[in-house]
Amino acid sequence: MPLEDIKQKLERNPRDHDGTRIQSSYKDSKSSLKLAYIESYGCQMNFADSEVVASILGKEGYGITESIHDASLVLINTCSIREKAEQTVRKRLEYFNSIKKGRTKMTVGVLGCMAERLKHQFLEEEKIVDLVVGPDAYKDIPNLLQEVAQDREAVNVLLSKEETYGDIAPVRLNSNGVSAFVSITRGCDNMCTFCVVPFTRGRERSRDPKSILEEVNDLVLKGYKEITLLGQNVDSYLWFGGGLKKDFVKASALQQKTALRFEDLLALVAEAHPKTRIRFSTSNPQDMSLDVLKVMKKFDNICNSIHLPVQSGSNAILKKMNRQHTREEYMKLIDTIREILPNCGISHDMIAGFPSETEQDHQDTLDLMDYVKYDYGFMFTYSERPGTHAARKIIDDVPEVVKKKRLSQIIEKQRQHSRFRTGQYLDQTVCVLIEKESKKSNKDWSGRTTQNTVTVFPKKDFKIGDFVEVKITDCTSATLIGEAVGLSERV
Ligand code: SAH
Ligand code: F3S
Repeated sequence: MPLEDIKQKLERNPRDHDGTRIQSSYKDSKSSLKLAYIESYGCQMNFADSEVVASILGKEGYGITESIHDASLVLINTCSIREKAEQTVRKRLEYFNSIKKGRTKMTVGVLGCMAERLKHQFLEEEKIVDLVVGPDAYKDIPNLLQEVAQDREAVNVLLSKEETYGDIAPVRLNSNGVSAFVSITRGCDNMCTFCVVPFTRGRERSRDPKSILEEVNDLVLKGYKEITLLGQNVDSYLWFGGGLKKDFVKASALQQKTALRFEDLLALVAEAHPKTRIRFSTSNPQDMSLDVLKVMKKFDNICNSIHLPVQSGSNAILKKMNRQHTREEYMKLIDTIREILPNCGISHDMIAGFPSETEQDHQDTLDLMDYVKYDYGFMFTYSERPGTHAARKIIDDVPEVVKKKRLSQIIEKQRQHSRFRTGQYLDQTVCVLIEKESKKSNKDWSGRTTQNTVTVFPKKDFKIGDFVEVKITDCTSATLIGEAVGLSERV
């Protein structure tokens, strides 16, 4: 089976971390005269950002259409994390161009990380692009559209110290009405040597907890049953009145003393909505604290699932990646998680073939995987990103074939571990939140367990949004298969 297919099979949450996936647009708003079409790529943050953009456009009188052919404004929210993600976007732009040729008026805008990375260069390289907007400049879109109307260059890629879009109520796009994402931090200060995110999304800042709680409240009132708190490093959330996280040291003594940390926010959200599932992503191992684990244990509605990217199992590589922990510290953290939350699902991100990676480093990665036996993972070959420390300073001496071979070994190992994990649920009864119809059969529902494992079972009289008890009778490496035995008291 091709690598890409295996990777997709192993993915539990198809919208997570995938730089290639399309989420086309959404609710048609027939009453609006002006229609916009938004396509999103990349991480959950990008999907959440597109919902902010839809809200900003709504105030300008734009409705959102599912059909690119009805739209006068076509936006593509882009990802730069790997070269392949950027190639996908360029191909889509070619397609947009073919449509634009037959139209009298169609504005094409590039949003997100690629806009930030390539800036004005985009207008020269991609002649069809009218508008380039970085992740912190979405509020400027109405002004930029006026610039476009007057045939002026419309680019805003300024990164901000404060912007969190806390004052914007996102318009939910392509929603199942059951699970929603709420951004709590923006940017990243970690400077992992391979990663473009600190350059494209700027410095880390946290969002006002009041606006987070309001957004969650609103979602719960609308019937949503699962909220995922989002950020590049959610555990590093820190509210001391606003501004960059790195300026916390300059905050007043009172601000520092009364600062709200991730565990506090998590507890506030979980306590306010005991019948709503709370998830969070992503946890950088360096920021994951005992306090967060204790809050997870205290609240039954916080899901037993932690996404804990490690990137490599070799100390030498972790150091070159500028990850702030060793292999041993990571393993200790896994032990602590299992001690406090014995049934916790743990997932990972892994990079195969980082520059200078030796066969022994790779074996260390496989060995670490054997230690953890992750529930699932997102696995990639190293992709050199221009401007990063690794691209500038470390020679990429691992041939592409070796990278690919190592990746396939990592993926195969993960498949075995995933199968081991799903096998543990055979004959058990698990609580599942029904999200949608199963892709394979319209007679089955699909949902997830607290550990984030996809579960399918015959529909009976249950409906989307129900929490149900499901007796597990069979499984594959990625999916639990069972029979719903009744509504659940659990979440
Ligand atoms: N904040 C997260 C990572 C976000 S980026 C963390 O705590 O680690 C999502 C994933 O993309 C990363 O975990 C990494 O595995 C992968 N990735 C990032 N840059 C990459 C690159 N240059 N090549 C290959 N994979 C990369
Ligand atoms: Fe990237 Fe590392 Fe931040 S992977 S998003 S720089 S934690």
